[in-house]
Amino acid sequence: MKHFTTIKEISTYLKPGQKQGLEIGFVPTMGALHEGHLTLIRRSKAENDLTICSIFVNPIQFNNKEDLEKYPRNLVRDAKILEELGCDVLFSPESGEIYPDGHTEPLDLEFGMLDKVMEGKFRPGHFRGVAIVVKKLFDIVYPSRAYFGKKDFQQLAIIRYLVQTLKIPVQIIACETVREDDGLAMSSRNMRLTIAERQIAPIIYQVLCKAKEKVGKLPVWELKEWAIKKIQTNPEMRVEYFEIGDRESLLPLENWSHKNRAVAFTAVFLGDVRLIDNIELFS
Ligand code: PAJ
Repeated sequence: MKHFTTIKEISTYLKPGQKQGLEIGFVPTMGALHEGHLTLIRRSKAENDLTICSIFVNPIQFNNKEDLEKYPRNLVRDAKILEELGCDVLFSPESGEIYPDGHTEPLDLEFGMLDKVMEGKFRPGHFRGVAIVVKKLFDIVYPSRAYFGKKDFQQLAIIRYLVQTLKIPVQIIACETVREDDGLAMSSRNMRLTIAERQIAPIIYQVLCKAKEKVGKLPVWELKEWAIKKIQTNPEMRVEYFEIGDRESLLPLENWSHKNRAVAFTAVFLGDVRLIDNIELFS
């Protein structure tokens, strides 16, 4: 596996392949790799000539300094995992390489309501930070396909919108959420849970699954109230939001007339760790 840390090095390496028309698969990550990330890499390997993974803890998408500082980092371990998996290229730039002199290029793009609801509401600026870095990485890698997880469903909607609006010639591939055996969605943040917190964390997905069974049987508002109460019967858990939204516009649904487009989304604090998850209610 080739490992680059500068834009110049990776660009020089990729140029001949790009000219030849090699299909490049790209998996952007922030590292602390787990099976969720690895599934994306495997899929990219199966569908492309060359697979590139980036590891960059993007400071401008963190609206909480402590979250940025506590974000797990282990580049040596991650590089070894990628090597074993047969990833072709790892790109792990320092912050100054992506944002020289701390300067972030402005992004002349409005996301409408996509970045105002749910994660956008509680993490202002987060998606703009994501969009800026992903656009920047696309401009370096020029991928044919880029792989994103449905675990971050709203992020996926933002990326699709970015690519469509700016007419970036890349296919966005959505991959299913990978879960632990007990249902907890894999996340780099899970390693910050205490043993006791980790034991109750699967409740989030259990409630999402039960919510799916209740679709159409309760009014939407009542289902949301039920879910919040159910999660918060555990005093360690605090629900930041539990929303039922449209799978494309992400706007909240008020009734079940479009239930074939409905997705349930939630963000839950477990101690000081913030976990997000979602479930498609229409499948
Ligand atoms: P990160 O949280 O490291 O996630 C990288 C990719 O892995 C994202 O597309 C995410 O949705 C996917 N992923 C994470 N957990 C998953 C799981 N349990 N199942 C399936 N896919 C999963 O998302 C980011 O990084 C950043 O915002 C990034 C896009 C890299 C921009 O900085």
